[in-house]
Amino acid sequence: ATVTYDFNVTWVTANPDGQKERPTVGINGQWPIPAIHVNVGDRLVVNVLNLLGNQSTSLHFHGLFMQNATHMDGPVQVSQCPIPPGARFTYDFVVDQPGTYWYHSHIHGQYPDGLRGTFLVHDPHSPFKDMYDAELVLPVSDWYHDQMHNLRAILISKANPTGAEPVPNAALINETQDLSIAVEPGKTYLVRMVNIGAFAGQYIWFEGHNMTILEVDGVYTQPAEASMIYLSAAQRCSFLLTTRNDTSANFPMVASMDIDLFDQMPDDLNWNVTGWLVYDAAKPRPDPAVLAAPFDPFDDMALVPWDNQTRFGEPDHSFALDVVMENLGDGANYAFFNDITYTSPKVPTLYTVLTAGDLATNPAIYGGHTHTMVLAKDEIVDIVVNNRDPGKHPFHLHGHNFQVLWRSDDDAGIFAAANTTAAFPATPMRRDTVVVHPGGNMVLRFKADNPGVWLFHCHIEWHVQSGLVATFVEAPLDIQQSLPALPADHLAACAAAGVMVEG
Ligand code: C2O
Repeated sequence: ATVTYDFNVTWVTANPDGQKERPTVGINGQWPIPAIHVNVGDRLVVNVLNLLGNQSTSLHFHGLFMQNATHMDGPVQVSQCPIPPGARFTYDFVVDQPGTYWYHSHIHGQYPDGLRGTFLVHDPHSPFKDMYDAELVLPVSDWYHDQMHNLRAILISKANPTGAEPVPNAALINETQDLSIAVEPGKTYLVRMVNIGAFAGQYIWFEGHNMTILEVDGVYTQPAEASMIYLSAAQRCSFLLTTRNDTSANFPMVASMDIDLFDQMPDDLNWNVTGWLVYDAAKPRPDPAVLAAPFDPFDDMALVPWDNQTRFGEPDHSFALDVVMENLGDGANYAFFNDITYTSPKVPTLYTVLTAGDLATNPAIYGGHTHTMVLAKDEIVDIVVNNRDPGKHPFHLHGHNFQVLWRSDDDAGIFAAANTTAAFPATPMRRDTVVVHPGGNMVLRFKADNPGVWLFHCHIEWHVQSGLVATFVEAPLDIQQSLPALPADHLAACAAAGVMVEG
C-alpha cells in the first residue's frame, strides 16, 4: 500500500514541562508532532510544506536503509539542499524493515526545537505477534527552554573553551511530564521506546514490572529479560511488559537522564521524569521509590539477533576513527575524527557523486572537511572507534545497521586487535546507534551493500554541531547508474540555495 502524510511544518507554542512557553517546531499546527505508521513493504510519501518563515528544514527517517533512495535520506548538504521557507518537498520511499524508528529534522540542530517524532513499522509476520495484546509507544527525550540557534552560539564560542554542552532543562516521556498510561490487569503490552532527545541518554524502568526485550533499533532479538534499560539519544527498544493481575495500586515508570554526560549541574536541574501505569484512576499515582545512581541497566552487548546472523568475514577495509575534542584558533571547542572536524560542503555530497563521473571514487573530490571515505560495492567494512575523549558518544550510521563486534570498558585506550579479536561474538547484535564508553573503543562491522551517501556521526546534537561527523560514499558508480532522476523539488531546493545541480 501507499501511505501518505501531508506535513505543514509550522511554529507553534509549547510548554511541556510547565516551566516556560517557547516557540517549538510543530506539524500541521500541532506539537507533539504525529507518529508515522506504516506496514513492512509499504511505500511512504511525506509531502512537506515549510511554513516556518524564518528557517529552512528537512526530514530524516532514522534507521531506515533508503535502498536505492539515498536522495530521500534527508541530511542537508549530504543528500539534499535545505527546504527553504515556502517550499514543498516530497519524501517518497519504500519501507522494508520492521520495527521502531523515528524521524527528525536534519539541519543545523533543528530537531531539538521540536521536529522529532516516532516512526513505527508494523510487521504482520513478526515472530512475536502472538505474544501481546496491545502496543504502547513511549518516546523519551530531553527538553531545552531556549532555542537551538541561541544555544549553539553559546556552545561554539570562545566563552566556552571546554565545549561544555548546554544541559537540558527537563526530561519528558511522550513529550510531557504528566503521563498516565491506562493499563488493564493481566495483559501483555508491546512497549516501543525511542529516545528522541538531543543529548541525554536515559535509564528507564517500571516499578514492580519486568521487561522482555524483543527488538533494538529495528533488529529483532532473542527475548531477553531486563529490569532496567538504557537508551542513548536515537536508540530504540521494544519489549513485552505484562501487567499485574490486580488493580490495587498504580506504578511509576521513570526515565532518568544520564548525568555522567553533563559537564555542569545546574542547581534546579530535575533529571528524572515519572510517568505512571494506571490500573485504577481513582487510586493515587505514587512517587518512585528509587531515584539514585548507580544504575545497572541491561547490557545491550548481551543481545543476540533473532535471525542469528553470523559475524561477517574479515574486513576488506578498516577505518580507525579517533575521537578528540580540541580548541581551534577562534578559541572555541570542536570535535574531531582523527584530525578532521566536519563542515558541510557547498554542494551536497550526493550531487558531487552524481556529477563527477569516474572521479567519484576519489575521496579527495569531496573536500577534506567532509571526511569522506569511499567504499566499494559489497566490501566488508570495519569502523574502529577510539574514544580519546572522557565522554560517552552514541555513534550512528545512516543507511545501515552494523554488527557490534567489540566494545571496551571505560579508559581502555586504543583498540588492540591482537588482544581482542578472539572475543568477537559469533552472532553479534546489530544496531544503528551504539554508545562508546569514555576513553574506550569499539569495533563496528557492516557490508557495503547499499549504494548511497551515508553519514556516520555522534547522535548528541551538540557534537554534530561541533563536527563529530564523517561521510561514507558507498559504491558511487552504482549510485550514478541506479539512482532515479532527481525530482524537480530537489532541484528547486538547490536552485533556491544557489547550488547548480544537473538533473
Ligand atoms: Cu538520527 Cu544523522 O541521524
